[in-house]
Amino acid sequence: MSKLPNTPASIFSVMSQLANKHNAINLSQGFPNFDVDSRLLEISKKLLNENIHQYTPMVGLPSLLEKIADLTERNYQRKIKTSSELLITTGATQGIYTTINTFIGFGDEVIILDPSYDSYEPSVMVAGGKPIRISLNEDYSPNFNRIEDAITVKTKMIIVNNPHNPTGKIWREQEFEALETILEKYPEILLLSDEVYEYISFKHSHISINSRPKLRDRAIIASSFGKSLHVTGWKVGYLIAPEMLMSEIKKIHQFLVFSINSIAQYVISEYLDVVDFKEVAKMYSKKRTLFQNLLKASRFQILPSEGTYFQVVNYSEISDKGDMEFAKELIIKHGIAAIPISVFHKDGTDKKMLRFCFAKTEDTLTAAAEKLVHI
Ligand SMILES: Cc1ncc(COP(=O)(O)O)c(C=O)c1O
Repeated sequence: MSKLPNTPASIFSVMSQLANKHNAINLSQGFPNFDVDSRLLEISKKLLNENIHQYTPMVGLPSLLEKIADLTERNYQRKIKTSSELLITTGATQGIYTTINTFIGFGDEVIILDPSYDSYEPSVMVAGGKPIRISLNEDYSPNFNRIEDAITVKTKMIIVNNPHNPTGKIWREQEFEALETILEKYPEILLLSDEVYEYISFKHSHISINSRPKLRDRAIIASSFGKSLHVTGWKVGYLIAPEMLMSEIKKIHQFLVFSINSIAQYVISEYLDVVDFKEVAKMYSKKRTLFQNLLKASRFQILPSEGTYFQVVNYSEISDKGDMEFAKELIIKHGIAAIPISVFHKDGTDKKMLRFCFAKTEDTLTAAAEKLVHI
C-alpha cells in the first residue's frame, strides 16, 4: 500500500539528472552555484572547534531564536515570544510538512493555489487530507472568487506562497485585503504562509503575514535560511505561529526531528550579526537584470520576475511542443536545463512556459544566455 501512489520522482531530480547526463548548464533546480559568503565560512571554521556539537533545545538554539525575533520585529514590526511562537526546523520543507500533519486529518480540505510548489500536495495526502487545487489568474495573481468558491465546511487550511515559486509574483496590499475580507467570514480556517523568498524581492517590497494583524493570529509562517543565506544544503528554516498553534506543532516536531543540526544553528546565529538581507536582494537583483538583458536578444518572452530567484519565460514563438517535451529538448539539443511550468499545475495546464533559476554566477548566466539567444 502506498500513501502517495501517483507521486513520481521530483521534477527537480529528473531535470538535474538529465542535465548531468547531457552536460547541460543547469538552470532548473533552485540552488545557487556561487560561493557562500566568506564571513559565513570563517564563522563556521572558528566555531567547529568549540562545544557546539550536542543537541540544542528542541525549539532551537536560544541565541538564534532571539535573533530571529529581533529580525521579525525590525522587518515586520511583530514582537514574537521566542519560548512559544518560534520553532527552528530542518528547512522550510519540514516546517511545512509538520504544520500540515499537525492540523490536517482525514477528509480535511486544503486549498492550494496553482501553479504551486511541489511539497504541499503530498504533505496533505500523507495526512489523509484532500488537496483542493485552484488556479491563479493568468498573470499569476490570486483569484479570490475562485478561492472563496472553493471553501466548504471541510476547508481547514489555505496555503499561500509569496514571493511565489515558480512565477516570481509578489502579492500587493489589495490582495492581502481581499484575503482578509474572505477569511473574516471563516474564523476556523488556518493560513499556512510559505515565505521562504521573503528577502528576495525587487521593485515591490515583500509584505509578510507577520505584518497583517488580521491574518497572523491564524497563520503559520514558514521561512528558510537556506534561501535567505544561499546555503540550501544546510536545511535550516523556521516557523512562526501563535502559541496556541505552535504548541500543537511542537508535539509532532519533537518526534519527527527533536532538535535540528546544532552546528548550522550556531553558525547562522553568529552570522546574523553581520549579514544584511538588503545586500542579498541587491545581489539577486543584479543577476536578474543581467539575465533579463541577455535574454532580450532571444525569442523567449520574458515574464515579470518580482521576487525569488526565478525567471519565467514563454517560448511560444519558438515551438508549439508541450513544455515537458520542449524542456527535455532544451537539455538534449541545446545544453540548458529549465523546469516546465506545467508540473506545478495539478491539471497539467501548459502555457508554454519554462522556469529558469538565476541564482548562478555571471559566467553561468552569460554562457546559458549565449545558447538561449540562438534557439
Ligand atoms: C516555495 C518553496 N517553499 C519551500 C521550499 C523548501 O525550502 P527548504 O530548502 O528550506 O526546505 C522551497 C525550496 O525550493 C520553495 O521554493
